[in-house]
Amino acid sequence: MKIKVKTLLSQILIIVLLLTGCGRPDSPAAAGTRSNDTSKKDDKGYITVGFSQVGAESDWRNINTESMKDSLCAENGYDLIYDDGQQKQQNQITAIRTFIQKEVDYIVLAPVIEDGWNTVLTEASDAGIPVILVDRMVNVSDPDLFTCWVGSDFELEGRKVCEWLNAFCKANRISGGEINIVNIMGTEGASAEIGRSRTLREAVRQYGWNLLDERSGEFTQAKGREVMSQFLKQYNNINVVYCENDNEAFGAIDAIEASGRTVGTDIKHGEIMVLAFDGSSDQAVEAVRSGRISCIGECNPLHGPRVEKIIRNLQNGITPDKYEYVDEDIFSAEPCVKSITVKGETYTVKLP
Ligand code: AHR
Repeated sequence: MKIKVKTLLSQILIIVLLLTGCGRPDSPAAAGTRSNDTSKKDDKGYITVGFSQVGAESDWRNINTESMKDSLCAENGYDLIYDDGQQKQQNQITAIRTFIQKEVDYIVLAPVIEDGWNTVLTEASDAGIPVILVDRMVNVSDPDLFTCWVGSDFELEGRKVCEWLNAFCKANRISGGEINIVNIMGTEGASAEIGRSRTLREAVRQYGWNLLDERSGEFTQAKGREVMSQFLKQYNNINVVYCENDNEAFGAIDAIEASGRTVGTDIKHGEIMVLAFDGSSDQAVEAVRSGRISCIGECNPLHGPRVEKIIRNLQNGITPDKYEYVDEDIFSAEPCVKSITVKGETYTVKLP
């Protein structure tokens, strides 16, 4: 009798496995299927995803692209159509229209700037294609034009770095009025630029720093160097540069050193302090450890597994959170600031 029950159970298990497609080596999208399957897949069983990436402007971006490609790969059941927008919104709009024509199952968009997406996202919505936003946000009339968003809290990043500078000033008896800061902004209108610039301006008002100038470095190293060279020619009292990503910081350091100045935290004796965001590359880690960048607000680029999980959930009829913020750290090798507090939350300052 026992043997009969076992046999019956095995038969039921086999039937269940066959119905759900589990364990079928020729079924790439098996992980996302159900027996009463309403999920999306092409003829070969792959989930087709069109990914419109901002470009390749920074180390962060390149790591992010790799993460997305690694997760949305054929082995995981995806047919990924990747498009590099080269930092131009029009290229991204064209890519989305191409994805719609190709009838992809999902569109993933990393938008270069926030404004200007209403029309093309309405087209995607009319075509019944879910749009997943990654990294930066869009500013649209109807939030239903996108399914969900995953990325960083750019305002929090900015506030952390500003609180670090304020704590550094306090620890070293430097008054707010002695801080002469320039801002090398990111791409104007991008969420990362909006959040980080806004929090700097708030801190300037709150702590009495002098914001000498702000100009866009477009998140690139070349432009960061160019803008910093201009600032150094124009202002002889700069003691802090707020760079809205690592690559701008690398460019700014080049410009500072080419002008005969040195970078570091000894701003009372002529050094220029470099602040930055990202902390994703080995070069950035080395720059923090050696003190050439005084503080970095981490921006996490590893969104591939997060986006893949969202798609898997959607395939299984699970509604993802509308907004998913990732946890991030703050990095510095300067020993005088151990932690900072933002909106009641305390963050330990770490060595990367
Ligand atoms: O949107 C994220 C930002 O974009 C990163 O800080 C930057 O490096 C990238 O280009």
